[in-house]
Amino acid sequence: SLLPQLINCGQRCDCTEHDLAKDRTISRLREKLHSLLEQTKKAEPTKPLKPPLPTIYVITPTYARLVQKAELTRLSHTFLLVPQLHWIVVEDSPHRTGLVSEFLSHSGLAFTHLHVATPHERKLQEGDPSWLKPRGAEQRNEGLRWLRENIRSQEGGVIYFADDDNTYSLQLFEEMRWTQRVSVWPVGLVGGMRYERPIVEQGHVVRFHTGWRPSRPFPLDMAGFAVSLRLVLANPEARFDGDAPMGFLESSFLQSLVTMEELEPKADLCTKVLVWHTRTEKPKMKREEAMQKQGLGSDPAVEV
Ligand code: UGA
Ligand code: MN
Repeated sequence: SLLPQLINCGQRCDCTEHDLAKDRTISRLREKLHSLLEQTKKAEPTKPLKPPLPTIYVITPTYARLVQKAELTRLSHTFLLVPQLHWIVVEDSPHRTGLVSEFLSHSGLAFTHLHVATPHERKLQEGDPSWLKPRGAEQRNEGLRWLRENIRSQEGGVIYFADDDNTYSLQLFEEMRWTQRVSVWPVGLVGGMRYERPIVEQGHVVRFHTGWRPSRPFPLDMAGFAVSLRLVLANPEARFDGDAPMGFLESSFLQSLVTMEELEPKADLCTKVLVWHTRTEKPKMKREEAMQKQGLGSDPAVEV
């Protein structure tokens, strides 16, 4: 609506009465312009006064199997909704695979792509019970190595070990973001229970609700804690022990970093479940195999 009036102002007129009217219009428009300029100034993005958000470094071990791309897709869609997140994907493989490389380059996430193969004697074999050997230990250590060699401790940050098959709420990431040393919270659907969790009294963790060996130093699932970047960089020896007995993998890492009293309880003093230890069923390939025998198998060039 300003435009026609401005155009009119530019037109000639010798009539004094009109001149007066025009002067008034011009002054009114000046005022309006001034107030609009003030408004745009206010609306302009200025430098944030708040300190920048600490980065969440998520370390995810992953290995080739039929459901891998589906798991990574689901996971990446959660992470895309989390501000200031850096995904460190570590393949259990002697080389970076094409599937994961392609996937990550199109993911829209800030990421680092690493790999290290679990040595044969430590690797779970087909048919072994899943509890026999720890999984993902070498891969998490490789992620820690990369952080120690590439990130300086002045940069605020927190490290979380996110397996590729679990289910993560967005709230979980905001709970862990400002971790000072080690944060903890409940994990749902784990250890043969509805949930496992630290028990908090007077603001401190005093023991753990778990169905199995509560006397372990840290009877926590991998999904139930996050560690500050500063603490990990200050303790270069802290790592996961791939030879740890069943249920002691998490303890092998946390033992050298904190005491139970120092743990920071999150998720409403550990009363809310914000992460679930879900496990994906292995798809049956009976039809596929039968059809392959008849020469009618599916096209191996189609990536699943
Ligand atoms: C439970 C815990 O939630 C894991 O954090 C822990 O590593 C594991 O037990 C253990 O005892 O080692 P669970 O569901 O039994 O988890 O293990 P998976 O989800 O099968 O594996 C954990 C992670 O390691 C996953 O991200 C998976 O992709 C990766 N993995 C698994 C490998 O990198 N290589 C393997 O051969 C198997
Ligand atoms: Mn799992």
